[in-house]
Amino acid sequence: MRHLLTTLALATSLTPPGEALAQTRFDGVWLFDDAGPNPGVTMLQVASEGTRITGAVTTEWYGPVTMQNARLDKGVLTFEVRNLNDREHPTRTWRVRSTPKGVQLEGQMWFSKIDASGRRGTVKQAEARAFRFQTLPAWAEVEQLPLAPTPPMGWSSWNKFAEKIDDATIRAMADAMVSTGLRDAGYLYVNIDDGWQGTRGPDGKIRANAKFPDMKALADYVHSKGLKIGIYSSQGPRTCAGFEGSYGHVQQDAQTFADWGFDYLKYDLCSGEYFYADADTVKRSYAEMGAALRATGRPIIFSLCEYGRFDVGAWGRQVGGQLWRTTGDITDDYKTMAQIGFDKNGKPEYAGPNGFNDPDMLEVGNGGMSLDEYTTHMTLWAMSAAPLLMGHDLRQTPPAMLALLENREVIAVDQDSKGIQGKAVRKEGKLEIWSKALADGSVALALFNRGDASARMEARAADAGFAAITAARDLWRAAPVAPDVLTFDVPAHGAVMLRVQGA
Ligand code: GLA
Repeated sequence: MRHLLTTLALATSLTPPGEALAQTRFDGVWLFDDAGPNPGVTMLQVASEGTRITGAVTTEWYGPVTMQNARLDKGVLTFEVRNLNDREHPTRTWRVRSTPKGVQLEGQMWFSKIDASGRRGTVKQAEARAFRFQTLPAWAEVEQLPLAPTPPMGWSSWNKFAEKIDDATIRAMADAMVSTGLRDAGYLYVNIDDGWQGTRGPDGKIRANAKFPDMKALADYVHSKGLKIGIYSSQGPRTCAGFEGSYGHVQQDAQTFADWGFDYLKYDLCSGEYFYADADTVKRSYAEMGAALRATGRPIIFSLCEYGRFDVGAWGRQVGGQLWRTTGDITDDYKTMAQIGFDKNGKPEYAGPNGFNDPDMLEVGNGGMSLDEYTTHMTLWAMSAAPLLMGHDLRQTPPAMLALLENREVIAVDQDSKGIQGKAVRKEGKLEIWSKALADGSVALALFNRGDASARMEARAADAGFAAITAARDLWRAAPVAPDVLTFDVPAHGAVMLRVQGA
């Protein structure tokens, strides 16, 4: 009796009263010819048996997306799918309608709306379109190379140009890195982020798109300027901007990047999160690429980008990584920058020579923040031993921004050989005092005013772990200050940065 009741309850929950229980008109294979944007639907497969409808939507980005709780609702096949890591919408409802020509699929994945029409296909066609799952290698630690004794410095294309990049722009950035003096200030890497990829050749080898006619020549050019060059990929089938990812081609892509002459790889989880959704698989997916990079024999910095999930700082080194993103994407506004830099960056104990928490690239020079706010941005990143990857158009750096980016004494704090990530030692409402111990025994102190009005702030010897401060320099003013009165009016959203000696 109990069993019968359960079965009945189940049947009711699956199929609203009055709807057919036999085979549905949706059963079978449906082909989508124009895969379209995210998630790139290629096929729908449906099977029903009694009250149960099962099926999957095959996508280019995420492979087969399984139907959950599939049911007929007024003749419409309705089901839920897992919606990436969107906490607000962990699942989305998708619907399939019958049309004179076949079916119409409507739904949403992440930010992307789906409205695609499919036609009937055969089992053979389904086999041809079937997604080829890849097996991750078993966990094995990757030997980490000491390629980043201090946090990497350079430039990356994403913040300013997004996917609107080409060979000429990258060369121009390399030129500007030299002519502005930024290279000589320590900025070394010219990193191509998402948007360089084309399609794969018949041999499976990734090719750049038409905007990058010759990657090797581009790398040679950047090297000829005394700079290094970086590239970008994902362990998923698609990158975050929808370009070809390394799924199924990890070793081959690592070799291609090495052959082209790249020195740095940012490896971004993106669509890979549909396949690698827990700590074990995410870790192994990074170890797979880490090992592939090592196998090329070329020293390539490995930058992990999985937005700080699964306590990445605890294992970033074990997969061969030298830096790992700890947060979601930065945008060019004070609120986001401050949230990321003050509140969300990874634990200081994970940072040290050859392994750094990465609160994302710089926005200095992109125009969305005031000079005081950009001063906070630069101070905070330097205090955090964060990678300093500029993200603006280097040909158009306003002098005030160049002064922020090129301040040698501030850079020296970021690049200090001890590799210590500074942290807040005192917080009073919206005011924060940060401290970072330096290799020569001196200490960097930062006074941050996160409030909306100017505030008087004082640096104390105890903030630096000293009984008394014997000498102090104001790094932004590039001037010594009297060590006995370290009181400053710090503007709203602004910062003062000091280097102090003490006893
Ligand atoms: C993600 C990363 C960004 C950038 C874009 C490119 O959002 O976090 O830094 O690389 O992808 O699509």
